Amino acid sequence: MYGSGSSGTDAGVAELRSPLEGVQQSFLAAMAELREEGRGGPADPTEIGREIRTFGASWSSADGFATYVRWLRDQTREDAPRPEGHVPATNLWWVEDDQYLGRIAVRHRLTPQLREVGGHIGYDVRPSARRRGYATAMLRLALPVARRLGITSALVTCDIQNVASRRVIQRNGGVLEDRRGSKLRFWVPTGCGDAGP
Ligand SMILES: CC(C)(COP(=O)(O)OP(=O)(O)OC[C@H]1O[C@@H](n2cnc3c(N)ncnc32)[C@H](O)[C@@H]1OP(=O)(O)O)[C@@H](O)C(=O)NCCC(=O)NCCS
Repeated sequence: MYGSGSSGTDAGVAELRSPLEGVQQSFLAAMAELREEGRGGPADPTEIGREIRTFGASWSSADGFATYVRWLRDQTREDAPRPEGHVPATNLWWVEDDQYLGRIAVRHRLTPQLREVGGHIGYDVRPSARRRGYATAMLRLALPVARRLGITSALVTCDIQNVASRRVIQRNGGVLEDRRGSKLRFWVPTGCGDAGP
């Protein structure tokens, strides 16, 4: 388990945890919410969109969900199967009791493409749990995870129109480097957040 509830938000006792089978029902509800806002469609380039397309059909069975959870956890390993061009990543879920609320992924290194767009860290919060400070808290708690991976400054990118994500990054000390196309690129120091576990 990573981290703990955060102060300064109404994040309550939610915490960052490695993906776990026990939240299957709330995960399914969260994915249904994301689908409703268009995630997982053929044109959705996001990580969650790709996973909805790849794994979504199997999530409702206990075995299928367990396989997905194992696959996500295995992504920390260099030798785990992963899509072409992807690098190892530590995937963490924001969970309160048995309620899945969101997720954050820390990629262990940059590729030329991630350096352009995508960066070290990506996150999303289920629509019904937004605007409660969760993404801000998740990023804060993920920074020590990145630090332990040897990342001293994490690249985090967001769409120029994504006001919420921009706030999340800036709240965590992100410094704007530049704009590339429709994306803003920030460097977030990993050593200045909470000490974490
Ligand atoms: C971006 C996202 C992760 C934010 O999650 P969240 O848990 O709602 O964020 P927070 O509650 O921590 O809010 C962070 C800040 O953004 C503001 N904010 C949140 N949603 C907002 C919105 N729709 N419009 C304007 N500001 C918003 C909050 O008021 C807060 O501002 P503050 O720090 O000044 O108080 C969430 O909207 C999401 O999952 N979006 C889809 C996926 C995505 O865009 N991921 C990021 C990719 S770069």
